[in-house]
Amino acid sequence: MPESSAPEFLSTTRLRLAPLAAADVAEVHAVYADPGTWLHLPTGRHTALAQAERMVDESEQSWAASGLGRWAIRLRHDLPGTALPGTALPGTTLAAGMLIGVASATLMDCGAHNFGYRLTPASWGIGLATEAATVALAAAQASAYPVTARVLAGNPASVRVLERIGLTLVWRGQGVAGTASDQPATAALERLIFADRPLKPDLLAAIINLG
Ligand SMILES: CC(C)(COP(=O)(O)OP(=O)(O)OC[C@H]1O[C@@H](n2cnc3c(N)ncnc32)[C@H](O)[C@@H]1OP(=O)(O)O)[C@@H](O)C(=O)NCCC(=O)NCCS
Repeated sequence: MPESSAPEFLSTTRLRLAPLAAADVAEVHAVYADPGTWLHLPTGRHTALAQAERMVDESEQSWAASGLGRWAIRLRHDLPGTALPGTALPGTTLAAGMLIGVASATLMDCGAHNFGYRLTPASWGIGLATEAATVALAAAQASAYPVTARVLAGNPASVRVLERIGLTLVWRGQGVAGTASDQPATAALERLIFADRPLKPDLLAAIINLG
């Protein structure tokens, strides 16, 4: 029996969020294989479709077990694309229905939700991550477990989104060689951990150890 009673399908002014499904695999792979979405951690870039398939499988297991998991984020309406950096050229129009990224609130073995997001660069800079993360966080907070997020200190846009949705910095430090299977090792990089409430020392230590 899932422990969260939050609705699976979420909606905002510009976005629809739905549990990640097999039909999303190709579009998810396109986002996760785009080097532009891994500027702060180039080694994390996906190189095989099987990685997106695994994300969908893990997400479906998470939804079944905890009532939360990963969402596909799709546009409700056409939007003008973000201007291309360093030019006056407008970006490509973002079409209604397209998958612009993924938001996550998966329950970890340590007893906290791992919150995150990754959006296609053409959609950056117009508040879409904040919009998606706001409703995803509200859904995650319908569960009893703390919501936590791990972020590299050198990723200010992501840090800003976490701050804007109301999460609090609970730890800053140099990484350890992590145990998490969901992302590459970040041992040499300064990392931050955010949470929606104070964390007990053993839980915080477990999250630090994820890397
Ligand atoms: C992080 C990410 C999701 C942000 O998406 P987005 O749609 O551009 O985010 P938003 O527009 O909602 O908000 C971004 C905020 O960061 C700020 N920001 C952007 N670049 C910044 C920078 N270099 N320094 C400081 N702040 C920055 C923006 O001004 C905005 O804050 P504001 O609304 O207070 O002005 C997107 O850049 C992304 O997918 N990056 C690659 C994947 C990733 O890093 N995921 C997070 C892993 S922990």
